[in-house]
Formats: sequence, structure tokens, C-alpha cells
Amino acid sequence: MVLLLRTISELRSYLKPYRQANQGTIGLVPTMGALHQGHLSLIAKAIAENRLVVVSIFVNPLQFAPQEDLANYPRQLEEDVQLCESMGVDLVFAPTPEEMDSRGDTGALNNKTTVVPPQSMTQVLCGKYRPAHFTGVASIVTQLFNIIQPDKAYFGQKDAQQLAIIRRLAQDLNIPVAIVPCPIIREASGLALSSRNQYLTELEKQQAAKIYHSLQQAKLAFIQGEINATALINLVKQKLAATEEVRIQYIELVDPFSLQSITQIKQTGLLAIAVYVGSTRLIDNIVLQKRQPIIAIDGPAGAGKSTVTRSLAHQLGLLYLDTGAMYRAVTWLVQSSGIAINDHQRSPIYFKI
Ligand code: PAJ
Repeated sequence: MVLLLRTISELRSYLKPYRQANQGTIGLVPTMGALHQGHLSLIAKAIAENRLVVVSIFVNPLQFAPQEDLANYPRQLEEDVQLCESMGVDLVFAPTPEEMDSRGDTGALNNKTTVVPPQSMTQVLCGKYRPAHFTGVASIVTQLFNIIQPDKAYFGQKDAQQLAIIRRLAQDLNIPVAIVPCPIIREASGLALSSRNQYLTELEKQQAAKIYHSLQQAKLAFIQGEINATALINLVKQKLAATEEVRIQYIELVDPFSLQSITQIKQTGLLAIAVYVGSTRLIDNIVLQKRQPIIAIDGPAGAGKSTVTRSLAHQLGLLYLDTGAMYRAVTWLVQSSGIAINDHQRSPIYFKI
């Protein structure tokens, strides 16, 4: 049974004994509600990987500019709680704006202690058009991390800039949380799911589906050897030019971690786009990467990990790396050489082999 908590003190008094009893990891899925399959995929991953899952639902005023859709942003708490219940979520944390701002000053970034991500990451892509947005996001996410103290937090690749900024935030501020990226969930048409899709008419939805088709065009060209940023970007622009209802705000090729512009893809590139369809702003992206994927397979002893991995690697033309055998070999070497396992002075020799 899911528990709906509205205050920080309720949440803390629930989590404190849980944490003290050391019962297992806590996963957090931060959201602004109006939950759809995209959010639910993050929740499902969190449930699979943690003992206790908290979903936060908070339409954060700090990340909306005055002319943006804060007042109209879809709010459907009851429905969201039911969805969380059906997924098996333990806690929904849905504070009021007053609860999240101890002084009741709910909207003003300039009157609050804030977390300011590096300018190099906030003045690009969406940040050019939403200057205070990522400070608002970073501040609220830090606040949620402090309140809930999760072991893992789940973020969608749909908001690739947000994901990169939160990763950097956790790293720079030494916040002990693992940031788990989750793939973009799309409608059958290719349109990335978003709470803001509710603003679109059926016709606009069909037009918006062209965004992903145009990104796919660039992916195809990339697979065929095109690595030049201008060429890839132009392909998307040309493809979208046929749908004049889709107006591009930006399209850029950047490094997915630093978010800095790149002129060609050496290893990995994030092709990110923002458009307007009618008065609705939509974002989407694809990651283009040269490197072969790394697939890690784990499971209980004797489950057939090696057999499955070897066969999969063979079928996909990937390199098979038996990490289990590697660590057993190192352990054997250390033991047969008579080195104590906590002898830090001598063991490094073996890691250099
Ligand atoms: P919100 O837009 O509600 O999104 C919550 C999380 O769901 C984000 O990590 C987002 O990337 C992910 N998500 C949304 N649509 C998705 C899709 N189609 N596929 C996969 N994941 C998807 O992002 C926010 O809220 C806020 O900025 C927040 C982080 C909660 C801070 O206020």
C-alpha cells in the first residue's frame, strides 16, 4: 500500500528508522506529476533495483520563468498516487510549495539559497532560452536529495541536459547518490512522452511525431558514416522543413556529459532539439555513438551467466569478457603468492599486470 506524505517531517520520521534498521537501498524518482509511461519506466527501474522507492511529486515553481506554464501545468495528484500504488511504490512525497520553502517565499530564486550549476552547462541548449531554469532544477533536486537521502535517483534521458547537470551536481558536491539514467519512452508514432503532450491536439501530435523521424534520419546518416555536426544538423532541419507547423528553436550536437558543442562525433554525440508545435514547446534528443555497446550480464551463481553472455556476444559480434574469471584469476594469484588480502603495499603490483 502506497503512503502519501505531504510534509518533510512525516517523511523523515518514516525514513529514519528504516535507514537505521539498514533494510536496503532507497530509490528516488523525482517528478512533477501528471505521470505517464515515461515516468512509470523510471519507477519500474527503481522498484527493480531498490528495497524502498520514493516518488516525489512537486511542480517546482523555481524552474518556471514568469511567462511559462506554472499555473496551467497539469496537476492530478489522486490519479498519480493510484498509478504509484499499482506500480508498488512505497512512498509518494507530495509537498506543497510552502512546505518546500521554509519561509513561504515559493517562487523567488533571488530570495533563496540556490545551487548554481556550471554556466558552461546552463547557457547552452535549453538554458539559452530558459536562463534560470536549471538553477531552479538543481536547487530543488538538491533539496530532495537532502530530505530523502536516497542511495539511487532516477532521471530520464528525455531531459538530457537536466541529466548531465544533475550528474555533475552530485559529483561536484559529493552527494552520496548514484544517478541512474533511463531511456526515452515514446509513443508508437515516435513522439517522446511528456506531460506537456496534453497541450497538443491530435493533429499537432501527428506533426510532433516528425521530430523523432527527423532525428532518425540523422542517425541513419551517422550509421552510414556521417560524423560532421553541420551535415547532421542540416539533415534534421531539411526533414523538418516539410512540416512547417514544427518550428525549430534550436538543434545542436554536443558532448552528452559536458554539453559542449562538438563539430564532429569522435566517440559520442548528443543531438538535441527543441521545437514549438503551436504554442507548446517540446524537446527531444538522440545519442549517436561510435563505440559498440557494453552489455553487462549478472545473476546468481550457476544461473548460466557465462553461457548466455558468450552466446549473445557471438550473435551480436561483440567481444566476450569473462569478468568473473578475471577476478577469480587475480584472487588465485594473490592467494597463491601468500599475500594478505589487506596488504595494500604489495597487492598493487598485481593490478598493474
Ligand atoms: P518531469 O518532467 O515530471 O520528469 C520527471 C522525470 O521523468 C525526469 O527525469 C524526466 O527526464 C523523466 N521523463 C519524462 N518523460 C520521459 C520519457 N518520455 N521517457 C523517459 N523519461 C522521461 O524533470 C522534471 O520533472 C523536473 O525537472 C524534476 C527533475 C522533477 C525537478 O523538478
